[in-house]
Amino acid sequence: MLVNVCSIIGFNGQITDAAPLLVDSLKKMEYRGYDSVGIATLNDGKILISKGVGKVAEVDKALELHNLPGHVGIGHTRWATHGGVNDKNAHPHFSCTSEIAVVHNGIIDNYQELKDELSKEGHVFKSQTDSEVISHLLEKYCKKYDFDYIKSLIATCNTLKGSFAFVAIFKNGLICGARFDEPLIIGVAPSAIFLSSDVLGFLKYTDKAIFLDNGDIVTIEDGKYHIFDINNNKVTRVITQVAWELASTEKGKYAHHTIKEIHEQPSILLNSINKNNNFQQFCEYVKNASNVYITGSGTSYHSGLLAKRLLAKYAKIKAEVIMSSEFHYFSDTLESNSVVIAISQSGETADVIHSVKKAKEGGSKILSIINVPTSSLARLSDSFLVLNCGPEIGVAATKSFLAQLMVLYNIVSVMSNSRLDLNIAMQKKLVKDVEKTLELDEYIESLMAKLDNEIKHIYILGRSIHYPIALEGSLKIKELAYIHAEGIAAGELKHGPLALIDNKSVVIVLNPVDETYQDVISSSNEIKSRGAVIIGISNKHHDIYDEYIELPECVDFLYPVIEVIPLQIMSYYLALKMQVDPDYPRNLAKSVTVK
Ligand code: G6P
Repeated sequence: MLVNVCSIIGFNGQITDAAPLLVDSLKKMEYRGYDSVGIATLNDGKILISKGVGKVAEVDKALELHNLPGHVGIGHTRWATHGGVNDKNAHPHFSCTSEIAVVHNGIIDNYQELKDELSKEGHVFKSQTDSEVISHLLEKYCKKYDFDYIKSLIATCNTLKGSFAFVAIFKNGLICGARFDEPLIIGVAPSAIFLSSDVLGFLKYTDKAIFLDNGDIVTIEDGKYHIFDINNNKVTRVITQVAWELASTEKGKYAHHTIKEIHEQPSILLNSINKNNNFQQFCEYVKNASNVYITGSGTSYHSGLLAKRLLAKYAKIKAEVIMSSEFHYFSDTLESNSVVIAISQSGETADVIHSVKKAKEGGSKILSIINVPTSSLARLSDSFLVLNCGPEIGVAATKSFLAQLMVLYNIVSVMSNSRLDLNIAMQKKLVKDVEKTLELDEYIESLMAKLDNEIKHIYILGRSIHYPIALEGSLKIKELAYIHAEGIAAGELKHGPLALIDNKSVVIVLNPVDETYQDVISSSNEIKSRGAVIIGISNKHHDIYDEYIELPECVDFLYPVIEVIPLQIMSYYLALKMQVDPDYPRNLAKSVTVK
């Protein structure tokens, strides 16, 4: 099976050249998936395709994608885990007659069956992808319905099983698309229409977006769009003004998006508290629930783990946290009147969406914490809070993690009758503490330079509220630097992981002075006697540390917010040390819209 987490774009510019815009748009969305790229344009009644393996800039340089002539076109970046990264599998995919070309995001579950059937009917496939069945199906139905495009699109969508969004170009200049469980958005510019998997694909040209509903089919011709449902009824969808500032998608003075986003953290920190005015309503749902579940993937799951600890300690609310890829196995066992808090930067992660849908069907209320207010998760939710941290381009989550923590701290603050008090003065102090911690950038860079180049394993220890941060730090190191890293609850060391520690190990201990401090010092002693290098992250120095990263003094419960920053910076410099691109880790994608 081939798995895609791709970006798709369609463009009808009437008088503007399509190719340079398509290339530019694909660059903006490349964080979603980035192993191969391709575009198709229409010129003199002929569809031209150019595609190749590599990142957009590389393929563009080699093949001059931006020079393909024509005012109408489609484009794609691909992320494959299966099925071969090669030119043939790169999109767009032609139909047999080369009169239709298609780009696709998602999975066609029944592609093999369709491929066999279409092959028997005489269609010849050129790739190993599931996506190619779409162009052949469109061709088949266009023939059957005498080029009634809407009928052909509907028949194609009805035949496909799975989750998909696709955009197709026809040799008469028609661009069309369909949205079935994968995002697809129309961008309405003054003299052009875009069709994209992400607003970033057109935000440079217009902030007017139409977020298609699931099951919507769209055609674009002569600069006009028409939307239909699966029963061939014409439908109207509202135009939304997208608020994000374009400037924030550029790298500015920084070498990479990741380090830029790490350094943006002081300025976005409080947006998540101050730009949401429905905390009370959100918390009412939690208060009235019989049971509270929290779910998320990757970094968002780690925020959930911290929230669980804070809710229990300060708001006396017990919540169960289940990672989304596991959650849907439990969804049908949730008690009635449960609340599910789903955390997701993108609001599009398939594991999260799938879990939430199942829980919703079972009668649970869905609350979500997202960065993209128009995302699928937001639409599924009874109430949602927005991170307001701007677009996050680096594949590894950094600023969105801090924003998630701020939202979660504020929920706990509202629900704890001020036992956890996040008043304005504390918020301001926190911003200063984050700024101060970021000043450690150069020092941490020099520490990472000192580490052995052959470093193979890094362990991060923490207890209680520091344990989720140990997990998050280890995820960052794995994602960015491709070094094996493990977050360990410090007390568990003696139950197994200690066997791994030797004089080649590097162990980071998260050890601000609080109720966990002494126990973590004891664990550090056990590690030291096995010869490992210890990096202490704390507000208090201790001789046991070989290296020390000093945190500013702050209130106990806020240490997770600042102690994660040195770990983010470490991961970034470790990536540079390993000579890998921190913005685009191999094999990963920012928005994993497939299960
Ligand atoms: C992918 C990314 C992770 C991210 C996770 C959840 O796996 O590589 O960095 O934490 O998705 O993303 P979400 O958008 O749901 O927060």
